[in-house]
Amino acid sequence: MTTEQSGSANSGQAGLVHVPVLLEEALELLDLQPGKLYVDATAGAGGHLLRIEQKISSSGGQHPSLIGIDRDEQSLRTLATKVGEGVRLIHANYEDIRSALSQYGINTISGGIIADLGVSSMQLDDPDRGFSFLRDGPLDMRMDSSQRVTAAQLINNLSEFDLAEIIFRYGEERHSRLIARNIVRARPLQTTLELAEIVRRSLPRPKTKGTARDTSHPATRTFQAIRIAVNTELASLEKFLNEAIDLLEPGAKIVVITFHSLEDRLVKQIFKRASIECVCPPRQPVCTCNHKRELLIITRKPVVAEEKEVLANIRSRSAKLRAGEKLG
Ligand SMILES: C[S@@+](CC[C@H](N)C(=O)[O-])C[C@H]1O[C@@H](n2cnc3c(N)ncnc32)[C@H](O)[C@@H]1O
Repeated sequence: MTTEQSGSANSGQAGLVHVPVLLEEALELLDLQPGKLYVDATAGAGGHLLRIEQKISSSGGQHPSLIGIDRDEQSLRTLATKVGEGVRLIHANYEDIRSALSQYGINTISGGIIADLGVSSMQLDDPDRGFSFLRDGPLDMRMDSSQRVTAAQLINNLSEFDLAEIIFRYGEERHSRLIARNIVRARPLQTTLELAEIVRRSLPRPKTKGTARDTSHPATRTFQAIRIAVNTELASLEKFLNEAIDLLEPGAKIVVITFHSLEDRLVKQIFKRASIECVCPPRQPVCTCNHKRELLIITRKPVVAEEKEVLANIRSRSAKLRAGEKLG
């Protein structure tokens, strides 16, 4: 399993500065055209968005037609101080992209859409947000702080069975049952370091030291799992991808950067389904699905960070980028 950005033991190296991953590769695949509309569905610190804004303006085109969406209002407030007047920022879950855009009379996207999934370094490194197993903070993990369910609520109220299921399914953690048992014994838990310590004590000691690419903190998988559950990330991603492909005009691009294998698998499956003519069961003699091929996959294999980028930004080590173009 490839692991999550939040899981790198030294992910805090960049402090509160978020370094965008696969930036040039993403922009090249978006194939920016002046005068077209672009949407960054995970605007975050604006690493991708500000570069898109800059490129569209510097290419001599009209004022950028750019929208940034994020479910984290705090990040959007900071980003608002950095963008020009032509950029609209919308606080929304990207699963609601259609209604978020339609509020502004936008029903299609002519240029493209980018999504750089997961959490930003600002979210990760702020102990009060509760994402970090390296810095103590409340067990929160909500990307949208107005959301009701926190990590503490899940951890302190779910049954041992449900906790183990979440840790196994969303963290692909082999020791999920033992971790869940130890969590339930130690409840109530209040802080991230309490949880990290329980996970550490539940796992066997690693026999050998890993390489730079695979060394990760023992709590990586469990924190990833709880975070995915708190933010219902996979269900949101599935809805978002289907809506986003639907919203694209012919020729418009979709670029998605994932940070763990569950996300990447979902992107791969949804892109594949959108790129084939028929989704009937293989043995069915006559096609009855009425499925329409609407996407051309333009990355035959996922694009990954070069060694140079991995060395400069450890978050990029698990990134995979897939892109498609909407067909007419
Ligand atoms: C990896 S960061 C993006 C960073 C950004 N591309 C940059 O370079 O600064 C991911 C961002 O996506 C946001 N996010 C995650 N899931 C989301 C969702 N379902 N809807 C909207 N935003 C989401 C997070 O709040 C976070 O700010």
